[in-house]
Amino acid sequence: MLNVSWRSETKREMKISRLSLIGLLVAGSLHAQPLDPQMNAFVNELMSRMTLGEKIGQLNLLSVGFDVTGPLLSQDADAKVRQGLVGGVFNTYTPVAVRKLQALAVKESRLGIPLLFGYDVIHGYKTIFPIPLGLASTWNLDSIEQSARIAAAEASADGLNWTFSPMVDIARDPRWGRIAEGAGEDPYLGTQIAGAMVHGYQGANLSQSNALMACVKHFALYGAVEAGRDYNTVDMSRRQMFEYYLPPYRAAVEAGAGSVMSSFNEVDAVPATANRWLLTDLLRSQWGFQGFVVTDYTAIMEMSEHGMGDLRTDAELALKAGVDMDMVSELFLKHLPELSAHGDITEAMINQSCRRILEAKYKLGLFADPYRGCTEERARMEILTPENRQAARKFAEQSFVLLKNDAQILPLKKSGTIALVGPLADDQSDLLGPWHAAGDARFVVSVRTGISNVAGSAATVRFAKGANLVDDPALRKLLKKFGSEISVDPRTPQDLFAEAVDAAQKSDVVVAVLGESSGMSGEAASRSDIGLPECQEELLRALVATGKPVVLVLMNGRPLTLNWESEHCGAILETWFGGTEAGNAVADALFGDYNPSGKLTATFPRNVGQIPIYYNHKNTGRPYKGDPGAKYVSRYLDVPNDPLFAFGYGLSYTTFAYGEVKLSKTTLTGNETLLASVTVTNAGQRAGEETVQLYLSQPVASVTRSVEDLRGFQKVFLQPGETKEVTFRITPDDLKFYNGKLEYDWEPGEFIVRIGGSSTQLKSATVHWNKTTHAP
Ligand code: NOJ
Repeated sequence: MLNVSWRSETKREMKISRLSLIGLLVAGSLHAQPLDPQMNAFVNELMSRMTLGEKIGQLNLLSVGFDVTGPLLSQDADAKVRQGLVGGVFNTYTPVAVRKLQALAVKESRLGIPLLFGYDVIHGYKTIFPIPLGLASTWNLDSIEQSARIAAAEASADGLNWTFSPMVDIARDPRWGRIAEGAGEDPYLGTQIAGAMVHGYQGANLSQSNALMACVKHFALYGAVEAGRDYNTVDMSRRQMFEYYLPPYRAAVEAGAGSVMSSFNEVDAVPATANRWLLTDLLRSQWGFQGFVVTDYTAIMEMSEHGMGDLRTDAELALKAGVDMDMVSELFLKHLPELSAHGDITEAMINQSCRRILEAKYKLGLFADPYRGCTEERARMEILTPENRQAARKFAEQSFVLLKNDAQILPLKKSGTIALVGPLADDQSDLLGPWHAAGDARFVVSVRTGISNVAGSAATVRFAKGANLVDDPALRKLLKKFGSEISVDPRTPQDLFAEAVDAAQKSDVVVAVLGESSGMSGEAASRSDIGLPECQEELLRALVATGKPVVLVLMNGRPLTLNWESEHCGAILETWFGGTEAGNAVADALFGDYNPSGKLTATFPRNVGQIPIYYNHKNTGRPYKGDPGAKYVSRYLDVPNDPLFAFGYGLSYTTFAYGEVKLSKTTLTGNETLLASVTVTNAGQRAGEETVQLYLSQPVASVTRSVEDLRGFQKVFLQPGETKEVTFRITPDDLKFYNGKLEYDWEPGEFIVRIGGSSTQLKSATVHWNKTTHAP
């Protein structure tokens, strides 16, 4: 229930009418539609007392406080807050800082309207979970939702009420550093994860003091930037948008997300932030979104660079398109009064946006308790708790993808001598990943510590750094400038190598922990070469040359190119950036206390030239069918078409055997339901978890279809020798796609039902589905 602490705040009490207090007690969630009459009455009454300037102030979002997440910092925040010229801030957290700034708003501004406190809580707040691409690799919606719930509880205890997450951009290009922040390439999985995240953040009711309002981003299509270069142009057909890119945003909206962030890129040659079709026709009229739209960082200002005109025009276009809140540009603040005076925009437009923001504040319970019960004591009790760390360890384990395990090198025995090598083996800060909110490296368990925690003294560990993360001075300099400094060992590369090779020679097995620094993926971190940095590559070659078995443990924020590595390392475990408990989790997986179960959600190409490469591609008129001598077919001369590691792929320490696909029927009509089953048997010696994936293909349709589309998945845990039957219910809804008229419907015909443990290892069966009893 709401904390009615307004009673103790005499000055505030005077500012809030009696009518509004009744409204406060019924503050509901953003799911509540149609609008709550008490909220309406409250907002009406409040707005009746607001000047135009104060209304515009609500549309202004400033970046102030501890973190810098964009090119420009807001100035004079305190004074503007006092004048009622700020609707919210971001990058300010901790009870002390939040209470101080909130007190300015509620006690010193004329109307005492509380501020929103936003922050990029992306994969945990202080207890850091794996990066989103890693969390997605769990294919475990409960874990993903729980990770968002814990993040919300911690962040709200520290004074925040709004997170700029989930990021649901579909990405098919691993050069784009922000692929780390999303769920990968598939719209079906992306929609499931989007919903889970929103529910996790917002909880049962936004007014609960441990809920955060979600912000779905980046609307829209930001993951499709050309050449994987951040902030670059996007151009795609409407059908492509609707079929592959838009579903996760819509799912997040349908899950009740309170806000949406417009993206930096253009959509149909109009910047998203100025795109009325996108922000109003689609988002509001078609999808029924009732929250508010905030721009990305200075996106209104950047419209001038896009070629949309001067700053005044940009502000006008953005408001008219459907933007409600201006992040950092302050162009609404500057130009809306004048635009309104000249009749270029109406006051009704400003009212509408102001109302949406006040409604969000009302739903968050901010008018009842502007501090939402945040205290230092609560923060101490609720942040980085042992339970939260335990959850982080579990999610990190679930996120790991075993890419290779020849001759069962893994799991390692808790005995003998292990050479632990690599610049990430004893690292803490990079394990937090590129966007780790208030995460603190001092609390991170390194792999070295994790191994000693898990194996104790039973195994001897010889540690050697072996190489720096990066040797290229220009790249190092840039990373340092961008806030992710690489710790550099002063020894020569030769000395570092020699120590590592010596450790390897004196050991039974080598564990090489290699990858990217956290600053090499994430925002503004596109790469054209997505291999391991050269110095690490050389180290790996030297280790392999010792003839000792080499286990490569990877930490990175994107699919990498790993041709040489996959040929020469005995085992490869992809661990992304695993967060606070990464080291313990890696050790659990290495020693078999946890049996890896993650599956890739983004394709790993063989080389950069294959990009974009993704599993749900089209067939083309001249498909390559495996004949190595074939000419005039869609292929490369110098690299196969298939990826190194496909979507959905991931091994286990056991093996799973699939039976044939059994269908409840082979001919169906109309709204019938098809049951498709397979048996899955644990054919190995260890208990393990498999993600059973369902894909559908429609070989003939009125528009060309993907070769297959994920339409379901289930996780099964099996003891050695155990068999379970896994059944999927398929209805006509699962057959739907966007046709040439952009209608979402299904067409009758033949469908191939494919089930298996990865997008390329599937058993299949065919079914005919007719619209009516008279087959077409
Ligand atoms: C820019 C990023 O694109 C966005 O994801 C983030 O939420 C904002 N900066 C605020 O930090």
